[in-house]
Amino acid sequence: MILAIGCLVIVCATTIAVIKSKKPLKLIIAEAKYEILYNAVGSKYMMNDFLMRNKNKLTELPKDLKKIAVITGGTRGIGLEVIKLLLTADINVIIGCRNVQQGETLLKKFRDMGIDRGNIEVYQLDISVTNSVKKFASEIKERHDKIDYLINNAGIMFGPYVESRDGYESQFSTNYLGHFLLTHLLLPELKRAGTEKSNSRIVNVSSCAHVIGKINFEDINHRNRYIPSEAYAQSKLAQVIFTIYLNDLFKKENAHVQVHSVHPGIVNTDLFNGTHLKNLAPWIPHLFFKSPEQGAYPIIYACLSPKLEGQGGTYIDNCRVVSPSDRASNPEVQEKLFKYTKELLSIEKYSELL
Ligand SMILES: NC(=O)c1ccc[n+]([C@@H]2O[C@H](COP(=O)([O-])OP(=O)(O)OC[C@H]3O[C@@H](n4cnc5c(N)ncnc54)[C@H](OP(=O)(O)O)[C@@H]3O)[C@@H](O)[C@H]2O)c1
Ligand SMILES: *[C@@H]1O[C@H](CO)[C@@H](O)[C@H](O)[C@H]1NC(C)=O
Ligand SMILES: *[C@@H]1O[C@H](CO)[C@@H](O)[C@H](O)[C@H]1NC(C)=O
Repeated sequence: MILAIGCLVIVCATTIAVIKSKKPLKLIIAEAKYEILYNAVGSKYMMNDFLMRNKNKLTELPKDLKKIAVITGGTRGIGLEVIKLLLTADINVIIGCRNVQQGETLLKKFRDMGIDRGNIEVYQLDISVTNSVKKFASEIKERHDKIDYLINNAGIMFGPYVESRDGYESQFSTNYLGHFLLTHLLLPELKRAGTEKSNSRIVNVSSCAHVIGKINFEDINHRNRYIPSEAYAQSKLAQVIFTIYLNDLFKKENAHVQVHSVHPGIVNTDLFNGTHLKNLAPWIPHLFFKSPEQGAYPIIYACLSPKLEGQGGTYIDNCRVVSPSDRASNPEVQEKLFKYTKELLSIEKYSELL
């Protein structure tokens, strides 16, 4: 009931905001369509989080792993909780973040909380900038020849149209393109860490929003028509598509690496700053969303659960394997997006076979 009123408030306020903005009718209709779709998908998944809350738990996690994880972002939000849980399992964490100082204070913070295991290394990374990704990867490679887990977490949602330094729409470059490159650059280290019994793992933090995404090859940057939520859904769909594609590739190469994409849940983080929802009804995220810690559980599950050994290519929601949208499973689109992205980044050989 409260939820229904909340949704109604949002729909009305959005309608007024859209009408006042004096945009062309076609754009207004398209924006309204996405607004409604997001509210529908968001509510559905929020309900799902509630119903599945007993499944969203970490049991039987191995301890004393002494392994190495790389995470993008993570000085706040869900990533912060992921780092905390990794340290608890005695995993060393390499953090790539924009504000190195902020990253460096984390370890002290965690030690003060009584977490006395694991270690943290922090490097400067702006995942939306190609050169920064290359520098980050080479710094890691200098010090480590094996990486057990790569967690592609950094992400942004909505916001005005901004292009990254390399000329790509910011959500596309942050959520997708930068991670595509990073994954490619760290593949040798990931392959070295994997063994027949224990694959190394790549975990992509995607989103339920991928179900309404569409890859717009004609205008990947959405320059002609920018609807922030449409672009976010595209970037998240692109991640899910790659999870499936890459996992198949690794199987063919007989590489001991497996890939998962994860929907962390609808989680109360700063990601929602600036959205209609947070502006109009801040009590909704507060009351009904998952906490960042609860959002971290499925990510940790994807990294560490022994149940998932050999189960790569899957999509995880609330610590369970579920099937992603059909849109992600279309081999033609997978192939096309892979080739397209490789060309954008001038990558000649992504992995051994392709
Ligand atoms: N919250 C949800 O309900 C939800 C639902 C589905 C999926 N997700 C996904 O979960 C992931 C984490 O989101 P969150 O909810 O934890 O959001 P958040 O609290 O806003 O955290 C986002 C993180 O990404 C980092 N980041 C953003 N742009 C970056 C860049 N260009 N270079 C390096 N780091 C960058 C941020 O670092 P700075 O401190 O430098 O900004 C921050 O650490 C995202 O991929 C998001 O799409 C979230
Ligand atoms: C993870 O997502 C990125 C895009 O964000 C993609 O390039 C990369 O290949 C994905 N990794 C895997 C292993 O699916
Ligand atoms: C998001 O909003 C909260 C509350 O207004 C604020 O404390 C926080 O700094 C904001 N975060 C970002 C990343 O803008």
